[in-house]
Amino acid sequence: MRTKIKQLLHSAKSTYLEQKVYVCGWIKTARAQKNFTFLEINDGSCFANLQIICDSALPFYDKMIVDFTTGASIAVEGIVKESPGQKQSIEIHASAIRVLGTCDSATYPLQKKQHSPEFLRSIAHLRPRTNTQGAVIRVRNTLAFATHEFFQSQGFVYVQTPIITGSDCEGGGAMFQVTTLDMDNPPRLPNGKVDATKDFFAKKTYLTVSGQLNGETLACALSDIYTFGPTFRAENSNTARHLAEFWMIEPEMAFADLKDNMSLAERYIKFLVETTLNRCTEDLKFFDKYIEPGLLERLTKIAHNASFEHVTYTEAISILKKASKAFTFPVEWGVDLQSEHERYLTEDHFKKPVIVTDYPAQIKAFYMRGNEDGKTVAAMDVLVPKIGELIGGSQREERLSVLEGKIESLGFKKEDYSWYLELRKYGSVPHAGFGAGFERLVQFITGIENIRDVNSFPRFPGHAEF
Ligand code: 4AD
Ligand code: MG
Repeated sequence: MRTKIKQLLHSAKSTYLEQKVYVCGWIKTARAQKNFTFLEINDGSCFANLQIICDSALPFYDKMIVDFTTGASIAVEGIVKESPGQKQSIEIHASAIRVLGTCDSATYPLQKKQHSPEFLRSIAHLRPRTNTQGAVIRVRNTLAFATHEFFQSQGFVYVQTPIITGSDCEGGGAMFQVTTLDMDNPPRLPNGKVDATKDFFAKKTYLTVSGQLNGETLACALSDIYTFGPTFRAENSNTARHLAEFWMIEPEMAFADLKDNMSLAERYIKFLVETTLNRCTEDLKFFDKYIEPGLLERLTKIAHNASFEHVTYTEAISILKKASKAFTFPVEWGVDLQSEHERYLTEDHFKKPVIVTDYPAQIKAFYMRGNEDGKTVAAMDVLVPKIGELIGGSQREERLSVLEGKIESLGFKKEDYSWYLELRKYGSVPHAGFGAGFERLVQFITGIENIRDVNSFPRFPGHAEF
């Protein structure tokens, strides 16, 4: 039976000492000396490599040694010994080694030197083998599992909402159309327009930008629900924080208001930070050393220190107006906050996560609950250092007549929202929820600058490779 490297290195030292084990992995480095070859192998189960000592007296040693190159895969049988070296506590003294797959060192792109993120993206099929990507993928895994742990522990029901949809939740219009019509020769109406009734769903459909509207229907029956799934946006955003396909966590709570929503968001983020600090110590230490110096301190502060700052949009605008920093985009009550404004608030002004609430109605989605002032809505954005907006959410408009009025004033068709409006007609309840971008959460916790490096197969304008 194969033992994973993590099991060997993360168990108490005595567990495996002097025992025979069978391990597999890819060679990271091979150092040949007179009577031995030292191999460092990694199987992805943890950050650290395992050292293998191959005695030149091993069967087929001379034949094998030429295949001991970076990237080759091997299977090793051997005894676990205490290591005299500084770098590791144990090592394997091999009794038999088999090369499973050789690796042509003349062409293998992952040589020992540092590679740029841009280059690594062009070899996305091999980049999971790098230290950085291995660590990112393990942290991502921990965050996904911790997300379920958190919401389950709070009594939320995990639900799945459709990926193909006929409605545009955010009203932004940047959606990918889904069609089975022949693009070269689509059926047409007498007026020349494409006849959508001939399409697969007998109407126009798209990939979802958010599961929220469906999530609301489930919350208005089960009280607290969450989704965790892929979402799609066809905006032409070429930034370090936008992908065309990303994952979102969307909790929705019935019998809840904006305060409950803020509290949930803060507790969720703190739980994720604390869990990763506990479970991904080795990976985070690597990020702290090579990706973002000070990362561990930043995360520890978030997990254990005082609560997130709360400001209204109106207060945020007055802080920005007084700022000595020169912004590229104008600061005026009514404008949407740009990334530079968000980062100023969280990085320079408050120096911690900030929840901005009560944005002007005209810059937020139609479903947000109108405030008494008639100008703002019960919206909230959670801003964090390095990223800016990590979470966006709101209390929802639960008053039928107010929501109908909103839909009409925006020029939307009421028929398109009939089922959404019926939730307000039959036993309406105050309810609230948010969406957290999963890739941004991974960026926030690892310090990785570009969102394209926290999703193994990123999709962005012009790129759907691999
Ligand atoms: O603020 P957004 O657009 O909110 C919604 O979609 C709501 N329907 C959520 C809800 O209330 N249930 O998106 C939510 C979050 C953002 O805060 C951001 O973290 C992330 O999703 N996000 C993106 N992440 C990567 N690439 C993109 N293009 C993203 N757009 C939004
Ligand atoms: Mg938003």
